[in-house]
Amino acid sequence: MTFLPPGHLAVIMDGNGRWAKARGLDRFHGHIQGVESIRRTVELCIEHGIKYLTLYAFSTENWGRPDEEVNGLMELLCKCTVNEVPELKKQGVRVRFIGDLDILDDKVRESIENSHRETRDNDKLHLMLAVNYGSRAELTSSLKEIANMVIDGDLAIDDITSDLISEKLYTSGIPDPDLIIRTSGECRLSNFLLWQAAYSEFYFTDVLWPDFGREEFERAIENYKKRTRRFGLVHNK
Ligand code: IPE
Ligand code: IPE
Ligand code: MG
Repeated sequence: MTFLPPGHLAVIMDGNGRWAKARGLDRFHGHIQGVESIRRTVELCIEHGIKYLTLYAFSTENWGRPDEEVNGLMELLCKCTVNEVPELKKQGVRVRFIGDLDILDDKVRESIENSHRETRDNDKLHLMLAVNYGSRAELTSSLKEIANMVIDGDLAIDDITSDLISEKLYTSGIPDPDLIIRTSGECRLSNFLLWQAAYSEFYFTDVLWPDFGREEFERAIENYKKRTRRFGLVHNK
């Protein structure tokens, strides 16, 4: 048993649309309510001494949703990034966005860059927000970079190691997630941290993301603490 809380918690925040639909509301209300759950989760991580929190906010596939929803999500992202930074700064949170950020609107990118700058000296909690994130795109771009290093004569084929690949991912320098929670009853990764999740523990809950709070968070952490992580080795106990 680990007995300890996860050092790095990652969450696939799912179920906003279904939460809204169940109340006869537009899907967008689910996303707004989801922001409350993000605030709660950040506080709970600080309280439980968790050092890294990665939240899956928008996938490379989510661009395929109706324009209205995509635009609403981008606006919400921009607004929250601007509004939440002062409080996050006060809480000692360092904010980082992971994903292909180059294709985002200037306004969204500026708010992201500002959040990086404003919180870069904090280290109580490292908060990574995965936006326009897709694990396959991440791996593809890192493999291209490595191939170019080989072509340029800066790297020998034998020096391509799994550590080097990890270093070239958006999550470079961030430990692999110990626990991945997915809300809303779906039991899949949906292109999230495929490489990094090699030895992660998983916790799936039917709770929809806007309803996710202390009770379910603590249930997940307690459940994690009872797990025996073997990493392919033999445990005698
Ligand atoms: C997760 O909730 C948020 C994003 C993917 C942006 P969904 O919007 O996927 O909600 P459901 O799964 O349709 O209920
Ligand atoms: C995964 O949820 C992406 C995010 C939580 C941002 P989706 O709702 O997009 O995933 P699928 O379509 O159910 O696999
Ligand atoms: Mg969903």
